[in-house]
Amino acid sequence: MQFDIFTLFPEIFPSYFDSSILKRARQRGLLHVDVHNIRDWAVDRHHVTDDLPYGGGGGMIMKVEPVFSAVESILGTSPSCPVVMLTPQGRVFTQKVAEELVQYSHLALICGRYEGVDERIREHLVTDEISIGDFVLTGGELPALMLVDALTRLLPGVLGDEESAQQDSFMAGLLDHPHYTRPEQLSHQMVPEVLLGGDHEAIRKWRLKQSLGRTWLRRPDLLIMETLSDEQKALLEQFIAEFRQEVK
Ligand SMILES: C[S@@+](CC[C@H](N)C(=O)[O-])C[C@H]1O[C@@H](n2cnc3c(N)ncnc32)[C@H](O)[C@@H]1O
Repeated sequence: MQFDIFTLFPEIFPSYFDSSILKRARQRGLLHVDVHNIRDWAVDRHHVTDDLPYGGGGGMIMKVEPVFSAVESILGTSPSCPVVMLTPQGRVFTQKVAEELVQYSHLALICGRYEGVDERIREHLVTDEISIGDFVLTGGELPALMLVDALTRLLPGVLGDEESAQQDSFMAGLLDHPHYTRPEQLSHQMVPEVLLGGDHEAIRKWRLKQSLGRTWLRRPDLLIMETLSDEQKALLEQFIAEFRQEVK
């Protein structure tokens, strides 16, 4: 998958893309990222990319021309890939949106700064707007990194163990089950016995039950009872009964 990222602060990106899974994905040719400095397309002597807002008020606005020139010189005048702007006013980024966007082989990402971008960029260049949540950051670079990260781990071949992405929170509409590793006993805290026994069916059921229970406790909004299988309903009922017993 190819990402073209347009930003005023390209120096933010290299260390993240040069680490861990994203680095490996790039080395293996599964991920290509080109980061473009919008300032390189500012034509005036001082490479100005922002200006005062019409109508007054505080803050600076990112100018139209450098952003248009940057995107058009890299992608052509009618880009064939989605041009995504990171903005707190966009649709909220979720695992579902990640699964939707990863269907594209190429995405352009525009990172805003200051008070945001001139509205004409939104109107005439951008084809999708993504927010990473109902809060305001100083720039779109972190949201862009989050988007690239979330999409990259969905690309076939990127994760060592393909199953691990399938079990992640939200992939099946549920939160992930708890995980344990060595030591088996820490003071009085034991790893649940079922995980030590090697009975794969019992482990599968325990994990599914924990997954359902966690979602019920922490994110009941994700649980759509009608879509649960009979087994899932029974396991959830068990979890709820045991939970109620415990808190009595
Ligand atoms: C200070 S913000 C501008 C906020 C803008 N005045 C508003 O209220 O909609 C500067 C830039 O940070 C990025 N940004 C901030 N919060 C974001 C969020 N929650 N999701 C995605 N991008 C965000 C956007 O690119 C935005 O243009």
